[in-house]
Amino acid sequence: MVMLMKVVLGSGAQHMRDEFLAKAAGYDKELVETEIKTFPDGEKYVRVLGEGDEAIVVQSTFRPQDEHLMELLLLGDALREKGFKHLKAVVPYLAYSRQDRVTKEGEPISVRAVLRTLSLYYDEFYVFDLHNPETLKFFPKKAVNLSPAKAIARYFKEKLENGIILAPDRGALERARAVAGELGLEFSHFEKKRISPTEVQMQPVDVDVKGKNVLIVDDIISTGGTMIRAANLLKEMGAGKVFVAATHGVFAKGAIERVSKAVDELAVTNTIPTEVSKISLVEEILKL
Ligand code: R5P
Repeated sequence: MVMLMKVVLGSGAQHMRDEFLAKAAGYDKELVETEIKTFPDGEKYVRVLGEGDEAIVVQSTFRPQDEHLMELLLLGDALREKGFKHLKAVVPYLAYSRQDRVTKEGEPISVRAVLRTLSLYYDEFYVFDLHNPETLKFFPKKAVNLSPAKAIARYFKEKLENGIILAPDRGALERARAVAGELGLEFSHFEKKRISPTEVQMQPVDVDVKGKNVLIVDDIISTGGTMIRAANLLKEMGAGKVFVAATHGVFAKGAIERVSKAVDELAVTNTIPTEVSKISLVEEILKL
């Protein structure tokens, strides 16, 4: 009998559960049930109720980050204890990924501490749109930075006929290029232009947005300030509809409402569950 690859969902992936249940078999995978709870003193309890050789553990590490990380370690330990031989960790949003360098003496490189620890249990590590992909070197085995470009492109396809994909800054250009590549559309990025000694303006480089529908893509939306500035500018320049997408919706308080008011549609992927996490990455995970 062929043993199907098992999929284990931590509490940071429960928002994807229904879709995993519906689609896993189509990818020759099978969900394994777990018991996950918190002891009265705050410690985590996990139990895995399935057998197998290989498993994918899906656990996004949004808030409460430390609990989600601890659960991921405990699930790894539980699966090893059950005799699983090969474990893949899929961490759609990786906590601590922005703390990737020492800025003041005495600080840790937090992302290194997290990745080294995970490598004690997991043979492969997958993440979406990592803040600094170079930090994957801290996971001393197979480590992959997955792109959400296909899923973002699929979601906005109908709305962008003859549209343009823009990155809010040059650093985000590769993401815009990837989404545009999926749709066969033009792409560019915003650049800061100094208007006067005190005034800096953002401007899209080398594209005419007049009358065109535009999708602005970034990795993270936090306060929403970057996206709102870009969207307002596009409207002033006569753009048609302005859509905004990001991989990780790390929204600060009130950010969803502020961005939604400034644009025609806001959609982020489901690496973090929010009311605008409309772009699912479940199928990208099931392909692993
Ligand atoms: C910056 O490095 C990131 O790519 C995002 O542009 C930034 O985190 C967005 O932040 P906010 O939504 O607060 O403007």
